[in-house]
Amino acid sequence: MKEKILEALKNNNDFISGEKLSRELGISRAAVWKHIKGIKEDGYKIESVSKKGYKLDYSPDLLTYSEIKDFLETKSLGRNFIHYDTIDSTNLIAKKLAREGAVHGTVVLAEEQTSGRGRLGRTWISPKGTGIWVSIILRPNISAYAVSKLTLLGAAAVERAMDNMGIDAYIKWPNDLVLNRKKVCGILTEMSGEMDRVNYIVMGIGINVNMDGFPEEVSNMATSLKLETGKEVDRKILLAALLNYLERFYNTFIEENNFEQVISICRKKSVLLGKEVKLINGDDIKKAKAVDLDEEGELVVQYENGTLGKVLSGEVSVRGLYGYV
Ligand code: BTN
Repeated sequence: MKEKILEALKNNNDFISGEKLSRELGISRAAVWKHIKGIKEDGYKIESVSKKGYKLDYSPDLLTYSEIKDFLETKSLGRNFIHYDTIDSTNLIAKKLAREGAVHGTVVLAEEQTSGRGRLGRTWISPKGTGIWVSIILRPNISAYAVSKLTLLGAAAVERAMDNMGIDAYIKWPNDLVLNRKKVCGILTEMSGEMDRVNYIVMGIGINVNMDGFPEEVSNMATSLKLETGKEVDRKILLAALLNYLERFYNTFIEENNFEQVISICRKKSVLLGKEVKLINGDDIKKAKAVDLDEEGELVVQYENGTLGKVLSGEVSVRGLYGYV
């Protein structure tokens, strides 16, 4: 009901009376008042004038469904949208919801994560209202082998969404996006299923959008869009664009088995291709040159002895010879 009242306020540039709201929504005026109070507590500014009613003066920077839906062009992604103010990790919640049967395209988003998770058991710093901390539940009919392609699909969608906003980010195969050689986004794709069948995928995407700084231990490696561009970036538009691109790329991949556009974006915007890299697999570190991405999304490398090899996403960590990239 709160959503419906907010909707009515948004659709009205002028005052709307409590009486009209109560009539149209079939609830008492006291109930209207109670919901208005709740909406105000969420950070909206609502003017109330006796005999005139309520008028929305200001909407806060929140990534709720009601704030992003006008920019969404998707059929499934984000149509079931679960928003938290604070949560431990959106990936953890999304996995729980997926186990309980949440529909394909369900989005779990938090303004703040208290235990944001990165790859290899790392933590992901997720302060309030400054980033996009989102997990998307996908239910593709693909084999476990093909799952690593989905991370590239996510990376390509983030790259396009940023490009839409005039931000020229690069992809560090397979799951990071970088700006000026520092990380602005990471993707953590988790799955449940057997070799030949996937139950569900949770694609967790963390984008550092408007943070003003990072703890010293990561500040040489991590940055935000705001720090690099010098401007606040509209999180709503970025999130909606990301979901729009993700659905488009996902459907083309699943329905037409076509992965070409994703690979072409990942090649064109690769920060690794042509560079000397270190392939890190636990204690085993190999030097190689990243030479190409094949059509399956595997990284083609040339080892120091001249032989060529392929690296499947998730198998190893790739680092630049002298640092992160
Ligand atoms: C990485 O680069 O190591 C992956 C980082 C993934 C972070 C996102 S934020 C939303 C989702 N919830 C999490 O706990 N992690 C992912």
